[in-house]
Amino acid sequence: MAILVTGGAGYIGSHTCIELLNAGEEIVVMDNFYNSKPRAVELIKEITGKDFKFYEADMCSEADMEKIFAENDIEAVIHFAGYKAVGESVREPLMYFKNNLGGTFVLLECMKKYGCKKLIFSSSATVYGIPETVPVNETFPLSAINPYGRTKLMIEDMCRDLCASDPEWSIALLRYFNPIGAHASGKIGEDPNGIPNNLMPIIINVCTGKQAELKVFGNDYPTADGTCIRDYIHVVDLALGHLAAVKSVREKKGAIPYNLGTGNGYSVLEIIETFQRVNNIKIPYSIAERRAGDAAECYSVPDKAAKELGWKATHTLEEMCRDAWNYIKTNNGK
Ligand code: WQD
Repeated sequence: MAILVTGGAGYIGSHTCIELLNAGEEIVVMDNFYNSKPRAVELIKEITGKDFKFYEADMCSEADMEKIFAENDIEAVIHFAGYKAVGESVREPLMYFKNNLGGTFVLLECMKKYGCKKLIFSSSATVYGIPETVPVNETFPLSAINPYGRTKLMIEDMCRDLCASDPEWSIALLRYFNPIGAHASGKIGEDPNGIPNNLMPIIINVCTGKQAELKVFGNDYPTADGTCIRDYIHVVDLALGHLAAVKSVREKKGAIPYNLGTGNGYSVLEIIETFQRVNNIKIPYSIAERRAGDAAECYSVPDKAAKELGWKATHTLEEMCRDAWNYIKTNNGK
């Protein structure tokens, strides 16, 4: 029996594949390289010394998905594949609905046909919308503030309806906060195709000279230093959270949400200061207008995952900043 990892060549997917292989799990990986690179597949094998089957496939293709399930005995699916750029989703909502919702529909149909009823879904803290208060736990109201977030929420709803219709389904809905950092080896890390949207890859682009300066989106928020606060989590901690969820879906039924965060909030200026200090580098930045849709603060209560998954993030913000930059230095800023 194998675990199918959709989007397994991506940032979080590749780090998760490494931890699954290190834990002795058999995996099958698929990716269409929309936001990843073929080299990542080879690096997973190089880092772990383990082999696995890979399919260059599109989750929206029934034929592609049918082939994977027909050729492999899939026990469970970890579903990362999906578009994830908030700004792009606002410009191209139909592209997001077709890919993220349509692709997940094809996947779930295939899983049902082959009797595979264990799913770990890459959800997001974005399903909390702009939370009224912080920290955020899993009972907080859910809402969408952009098409990307709406696809995450709608897929969660699809999963809840599926479990209500068939009690044999086990689905872990993992709500990520802000993943940053890279594998300690420096061989894999965040390597988005195109122009990044998130804070850390933009800091990296500024430090490698690809972008002139970082624009801090607003310093007039009701926070200590006026900049937004987020729950940054090391991508390896996030990967280990998926490993813990595999154990959970083997034991429990139903659709269960878990926050994967550290429970600590850091401001944009704190990220800048920490990154500069641990990497001995200067980040040129200026204060710009607020970005529409940003919440002043969003950070987690991670207690449910600790109690029910036996998982807790352990990496510090310093390690996140050090590892993020180490990946770039190891790859000569390519
Ligand atoms: C973090 C902070 C910005 C860029 C998004 C998605 C969420 C998840 C993580 C997938 C904010 C500030 C950023 C810049 C800045 N993605 N910032 N200048 O918005 O918290 O969450 O990514 O699951 O679903 O919504 O992350 O990294 O974009 O922003 O000042 O050039 O950095 O205002 O306060 P965000 P982010």
